[in-house]
Amino acid sequence: MTVESSHETDVIVAAQSGPLSGEVVVPGAKNSVLKLMAATLLADGQYVLTNAPVIDDVVIMADLLTAVGLSIHTEPAPAGETGQHLIIRNSGNITPVAPFELADRIRASVNLVGPLLGRFGEIDIALPGGDDFGGRPIDMHLRGLEAMGAVFDVTADGIVGRCSQLQGADIEFDFPSVGATENIVMAAVLAHGVTTLRNAAREPEIVDLCSMLKKMGARIEGIGSSTLVITGVLPSSLQAVTHEVVTDRVQSATYIAAVAMCGGTVRVARAVSEHMGMMLSRFTDMGISFHIDTDGITATAPERLHSIDVATLPYPGVATDYKPLIVAMLSVADGVGIVTENLYPGRFRYVEELRKLGADITIDGHHAVVRGVEHLHGATVVAPDIRAGAALVVAGLAAPGITEIGDVFHIDRGYDDIVGRLASLGASISRIRQ
Ligand code: UD1
Repeated sequence: MTVESSHETDVIVAAQSGPLSGEVVVPGAKNSVLKLMAATLLADGQYVLTNAPVIDDVVIMADLLTAVGLSIHTEPAPAGETGQHLIIRNSGNITPVAPFELADRIRASVNLVGPLLGRFGEIDIALPGGDDFGGRPIDMHLRGLEAMGAVFDVTADGIVGRCSQLQGADIEFDFPSVGATENIVMAAVLAHGVTTLRNAAREPEIVDLCSMLKKMGARIEGIGSSTLVITGVLPSSLQAVTHEVVTDRVQSATYIAAVAMCGGTVRVARAVSEHMGMMLSRFTDMGISFHIDTDGITATAPERLHSIDVATLPYPGVATDYKPLIVAMLSVADGVGIVTENLYPGRFRYVEELRKLGADITIDGHHAVVRGVEHLHGATVVAPDIRAGAALVVAGLAAPGITEIGDVFHIDRGYDDIVGRLASLGASISRIRQ
C-alpha cells in the first residue's frame, strides 16, 4: 500500500459556513485500528477488520506489518457500512525487524513490540514517531516488558529486545499510559502464567483491543477497568477473527465542534455517547444540546457558545486529543476559559495558528487562557499535527473570509475525508491539489 491521498503541497480552503445540517457517518478510530492491526501478529490466519478508517496511518501501519511478513489488502465497505475492510493474512512467516523509516512515522509502531516479543521473542525497531507534542518516552512499556523477562538495548535510534518465554508479572504503572497498557496486554496474552496490570489505561480503544484479543482466544479479565488480569495461553489456542473497529470519538467530537461553531443541527451517526460522557457533559456546559439515540448523537448549536474551564485527563476524563477543538471553540465563546493540559505540556503548538485567525489565547505553562472574541477572521495557517489540523479546519469554517490550511498531510493521517464529510453538512470547504 502507498500513501496516495497525501500531497505535501495540498491545502484545505474553508470559508465561513453555517448553519450546518444533515448527517455525517463517523468511521472507526485511528487509535484503535492501528493496535488491532498489530494484534494480528499474535496468531496465524486471515483477519478482517471492518469499519476501518481510510486514513494514512493505516497505510503506514499496513506497510510496516507487510515489511515484517503479513499480507494486507483493503476492500471497500459494502453498502450500509462505512470505512473499509482490512484483510490481513498472517502465515506465521515473520521477521521481527521493523524498517526504521516506517516505524519512525507513527506512534503506534511501538505497538509491535509487545506482540513480536510475546510470540517470537525478538524485536528490532526504531523509536516510535508520530505527532510531536514534546517528549514521548516509552519507559513504562519497556519496564513492564522487562518485568516479564525481556531485555532491551535502547540506542538513540531504536530498540532491540529479546526474551525467551515471557513470564506473567505483577505490574503497576505510575500513570495509565495508553500505549504501554496495550503493549503489556498483547505481550501477556502468550506469556507463561498470569499478568496483573494495575493502573492500566481504560480508553474505549483499549476495551476494543481487549475485546478482539478475547475473541481470538486470549484470557483477559477486568476489561474496561484499571486492573487487567491476563492469563497466558498457548499460541495454538489463538485464532484469527473478524472484528469491527470501534467508532472514532475524536472524529465524532470534531463534527460536533463544527456545528457548535458554525450553528445548526447535525446528527453524528455511529458516535458512541458512552465513550464521550465527560466531553459531552462539558459541551453541554458550553450550551450545545444533544439528542442521543441508539446509533448516534444529534448536536444543536447555541446562539453563542459559553466559556468553560477544562482539564485534560486519562479516560474517562476529557481526552487530550479533544483539546485543540475545545480551544478553537472557546476562542469564539462568550467569556474566558482556561484549558489545562495534564498529559503533554508541549501540546499547544497550534495556538500560534489560531492566533493568526484572530483568537485571543495566552499560554502560561500548561494552561491556555482563551478570551472569546465575537468573530475570528480568515487567514493562512498550517496544520501542526492531526487534531490541531482538524481544529484549524473547524475554526476556518467559523471565520469570516477565507482560511487556507497547509500541511494537510497531518490531517490525512487521522481523518477519513474530513473535507467531504463537512461539505456534505453544507460547509464551504474544498481541498486543492497544488
Ligand atoms: C495515545 C494516542 C494519542 C493520545 C494519547 C493519550 C495512539 C496512537 N495515540 O498515545 O492520540 O493523545 O494516547 O490519550 O493511540 N508516558 C511516559 N512513559 C511511557 C508512556 C507514556 O512518560 O512509557 C507519558 C507520555 O509522555 C504522556 C503520557 O504518558 O505524557 C500519556 O501517554 P500515553 O497514554 O502512553 O499515550 P500514547 O499511547 O503515546
